[in-house]
Amino acid sequence: MIKTKNRLRLSRSCELYTRALKYTPSGVNSNARLWRNPVFCYTGPAAAAAIFIKKAYGSHIWDADGNEYIDYRLAYGPVILGHSYPKVERKVCKQISKRGTIYGFNTELELETAERITKMVPCAETVKFANSGTEATLHAIQLARGHTHRNVILKFEGHYHGWHDYVQFSTHPPYLTPENKPFVQTAGIPKDIRKLILVEKWNEFYQLERTVKQHYKDIAAIITEPIMGNAGAITPRPGYLKFLRELCDKYGILLIFDEVKTGFRVAAGGAQELYKVKPHIATFAKAMANGHPIAAIAGEREVMDTFGVGAGKVSYMGTYNANPLSLTAANETLKILSEKSVFRHLNTYGKKMITSIKKSTEENDIPVKILGVPEMFQLLYTKKEEINDYDDLKTEITDFYVKVQYELLKRGIMIDSDNQEVIYSSYSHTNKDLEYTMRAFKDAISIASKTEYKTVLPHVEQD
Ligand SMILES: Cc1ncc(COP(=O)(O)O)c(C=O)c1O
Repeated sequence: MIKTKNRLRLSRSCELYTRALKYTPSGVNSNARLWRNPVFCYTGPAAAAAIFIKKAYGSHIWDADGNEYIDYRLAYGPVILGHSYPKVERKVCKQISKRGTIYGFNTELELETAERITKMVPCAETVKFANSGTEATLHAIQLARGHTHRNVILKFEGHYHGWHDYVQFSTHPPYLTPENKPFVQTAGIPKDIRKLILVEKWNEFYQLERTVKQHYKDIAAIITEPIMGNAGAITPRPGYLKFLRELCDKYGILLIFDEVKTGFRVAAGGAQELYKVKPHIATFAKAMANGHPIAAIAGEREVMDTFGVGAGKVSYMGTYNANPLSLTAANETLKILSEKSVFRHLNTYGKKMITSIKKSTEENDIPVKILGVPEMFQLLYTKKEEINDYDDLKTEITDFYVKVQYELLKRGIMIDSDNQEVIYSSYSHTNKDLEYTMRAFKDAISIASKTEYKTVLPHVEQD
């Protein structure tokens, strides 16, 4: 168990980060790993920080300085059973040591895993495998274009679908960007791609219908996260997902649920099971293999059959697709998710955590809104009554989250520095973890509400 402590030493991470800048542009291999918490900023060459991790097991993670944390970040979602979950890893080790990791041929394992997914996920009549969430949305969009013979994709502000050119718009735009002004998130995207995207506010009925009515002849797909998992876990308004499906059916558009975060996380069948709305196509990654790299595109047979070979078909390629190593992990993880009471555990754990955090926050007279569902949630310190779309995340209490996050790190609780990322737990999180976490939150919130912070240098120990 974590020894209660009240300091954070990150000198080794700091050293390694400085070294990383020598060999890797910006020092990280995914921009999300740059922490921009203003009370947690490195001095020197970098305007941001990155924590280096040494190992993880079960619900805990250890950094390069030897700090131990209860992990609620869980690599942005994949680790649903716990780090190095023995039942999964035993199978993976056997595959590696005795059976090979890649063949470039079909395997019976891919059939078994695909069949499993069709039994778990309501919309999944057939399945294709890929390697990352980004690939999955790329394939799904190409499928929708090939199927409808239209080119435009409609997405929503604050929704993230990976990093390929067609979706790198308005994932985290400045607040109050006017609607229908796609905000380009990165350099390197050809100007003409912008013509292929429409961006709307989420959870909004009338404006969306107006846009669709106006542009439907060009719109191949509406892509949405069914719960906004990259904007603090905003849930759909009652009836909104059903409205999206009906709108799509009315105008011959395909509805894509990007369930890369919600899939195998908020229920065995993802958000489509939770909200009882089936999309035409759904994309999955993260939790489906407890952290091993694999993704899936699943959907209605008639749509999915546009994938194929020859004229008029959407081609499908990939050296690493359905490799037996990732599939072994996926098959075993999905088996456990369908047989064991994982979702009951995540729900109960999350609910208890939410109730306790809310109480501790209110005791300190800080207004807080809990966003999302117990299986993936986030805190927003605000007086606002309703949070329905990305712009609602702009709050009057700007830096309380990062102060609490910093205090939590000092106490061995790992949540992300960005409150647009969500808090997850895993099947390996124990009651002991929960009790410790609730105490740590209580202390962190209380201290953060009373302390004046200067920018903190992490290699300097804090009292
Ligand atoms: C909803 C959603 N879609 C797609 C992706 C991209 O997945 P990956 O990082 O595996 O490429 C992410 C990643 O966080 C995501 O949250």
